[in-house]
Amino acid sequence: MKRIISGIQPTSVVHLGNYLGAIKSWLKCFDQGYEGLAFIADLHAITVYQDPQKLRESVISLTAMYLACGLDTKKCPIFAQSSVHEHAELGWILGCFTPGGWLNRMTQYKEKSEKYKESSSLGLYAYPVLQAADILLYQVDAVPVGEDQKQHIELTRDIAEAFHRQTQSDVFKIPDYLNLDAAAARVMSLRDGTKKMSKSDESDYSRINLTDSPETIELKIKKAKTDSTKEIYADKENRPDLTNLMKIYSVMTGLSLEEIENNYRGKATSNFKADLAEILIDKILPITKEYHKIIQEKAYINMVLSEGNMKASEIAAQTLLKVKKAVGLI
Ligand code: TRP
Repeated sequence: MKRIISGIQPTSVVHLGNYLGAIKSWLKCFDQGYEGLAFIADLHAITVYQDPQKLRESVISLTAMYLACGLDTKKCPIFAQSSVHEHAELGWILGCFTPGGWLNRMTQYKEKSEKYKESSSLGLYAYPVLQAADILLYQVDAVPVGEDQKQHIELTRDIAEAFHRQTQSDVFKIPDYLNLDAAAARVMSLRDGTKKMSKSDESDYSRINLTDSPETIELKIKKAKTDSTKEIYADKENRPDLTNLMKIYSVMTGLSLEEIENNYRGKATSNFKADLAEILIDKILPITKEYHKIIQEKAYINMVLSEGNMKASEIAAQTLLKVKKAVGLI
């Protein structure tokens, strides 16, 4: 059976970009017969400072959100990255096989370190190496992530190959980047259709959170930026904002952009937006409700995490053992 792995950082509530770009595509993989592992990337979260109490809460709430979105722990154990110590260990070892020059080229690092300048942590720099360890530990076939993560998956392949070359071993499966739905892989900000929808955007109006109330979703879509051209048609270059909304509509309904154009010929942007809000609410409200139910059940969430931890550790330990042997560590 083919295997996938993916994770999200527990740094704030899950938004539509995470849902469509990650969780929904994981579910699609399971429908197509993959098995997998999903984790909470808490070690990645601390590459920039996190309030400890908030971080603890976010790990629990992200687990509840995974479950609320319909992840089935039989097909896909859920665990916290930091509870499987092999991630950090393999991260270190792989770091010794990764030329610094490769890391200097990582776009996400360049963007993030720009913000923190001199105080940017070593962890932030080494972030993609830890991500490579997350993936390579589990001998997966593919990694379904948003488009912004593609470069990290390519780096993972390069690191694995460099490791194989230098140790003359063959311990890792070389994983593919998996993108089942191009539109879903890149959901943009509602305030600026050229920027990714992100939890770090200051404006909450830039994103739809999976915990937003129907009223909030309606308001955010109503206020979403569009241009003054009346017709509804996609044009990524000249109309990035409307095109982003149309793509979200398309991913949510399965209709193509052309079909949406045809359906809204002669109609106003406000009609289109009202329908989009309704479509989003229909999908998100059941998830929100389920989330609020699950988040009350702390014992259940902890059980899910500890079972996931056990299953993940078993696979991770086997890989780490082979790696240590290949390197000459006792
Ligand atoms: N870097 C990913 C993100 O920001 C999260 C992540 C960490 C991840 N490790 C991973 C995703 C391993 C897939 C596989 O979205």
